[in-house]
Amino acid sequence: MTADRTRAPNVPVGGPPREIAAADAHVGDAQAADAHTAGAAPVVWVNGRPADTHAPHLSALDRGFTLADGLFETMRAYDGTIFRADRHLARLRAGAAAFGLPVPDALETMLDGALDAARRGGLRDAVVRLTVSRGVGVPGVAPAPTAEPTAVVAVHPVPRFDPAIYARGISAHVATGRRNERAQTAGLKTLAYTDAVAALAEARQAGADDALFLDTEEHVSEATSSNIFLMRRGTLVTPPLSCGVLPGVTRAAVLDIVAGSLLPHEESAATLDELHDASEAFLTSSVREIVPLVRLAGRPLGDGTPGPVTQRIMTAYGELVFRECWRHGDANER
Ligand SMILES: Cc1ncc(COP(=O)(O)O)c(C=O)c1O
Repeated sequence: MTADRTRAPNVPVGGPPREIAAADAHVGDAQAADAHTAGAAPVVWVNGRPADTHAPHLSALDRGFTLADGLFETMRAYDGTIFRADRHLARLRAGAAAFGLPVPDALETMLDGALDAARRGGLRDAVVRLTVSRGVGVPGVAPAPTAEPTAVVAVHPVPRFDPAIYARGISAHVATGRRNERAQTAGLKTLAYTDAVAALAEARQAGADDALFLDTEEHVSEATSSNIFLMRRGTLVTPPLSCGVLPGVTRAAVLDIVAGSLLPHEESAATLDELHDASEAFLTSSVREIVPLVRLAGRPLGDGTPGPVTQRIMTAYGELVFRECWRHGDANER
């Protein structure tokens, strides 16, 4: 065993982290790109077979490319084990069913094959992206009856973000666009992320790190690639799925953590005013984990520093990851 098992290197076990990696490429992505973990090469598998990372793999007529007709999952592997891979695959399959998207049966095998290859190449702490599209199409929106889905697994080293985003928190701009909770694909992780791209560009223009969406009824929904939690009058609140949010795997893990605690908590709609009045808030996502949100629309949120509940949850999340992923380390060959 070569790694320090007392603490996963990218997990905030024991308080605000000294060194945490994150890779949503939404905050500090310039630094992340510069500091991309050296050494282990990315691993790409296409339709269950290893592929040269830099070679073209997909048809130019693939509907994932032409119509964003597909779904994806972005997962985190710690010490060679994906945190709650089963939840990610269940979410993708549920989305595919809602969306009428055929999904290959062998997703687990594809994921295992790519992850195994990554481990053999020394890539144990990784961002693992699984993309499934409806495959090659014909002009127009209707799928070709013979279309076979395309599945790509890409395993990348985890970029390292400025540790200040965890120690000091980040800022958010309120997007001028809205999350449409009544859209047919609301809450699904489809390939269509251009709203997020546009909102993030707007946020950067406004000098903020990330953008926060409201839904069409002006409730707080989610950030460009994270769910949100806020402390409202002593209760930890996260918007319900009816506000158009993605059912985040990290969101669910935080709800698991607080379910066993004395902290009052609820899934309930919140207004922007309530978020401004919150004593603290944080964002959750698989790759970036738990990030304190300390400024909103140019105003400090709470006292403008990561709050005590946020810090406790960062610690508890790190411990959860440690228990669920690092204990598998010996089973994963080195
Ligand atoms: C729009 C959106 N909301 C929330 C999340 C967080 O989901 P998870 O915790 O499953 O990573 C993501 C993740 O990328 C996202 O894209």
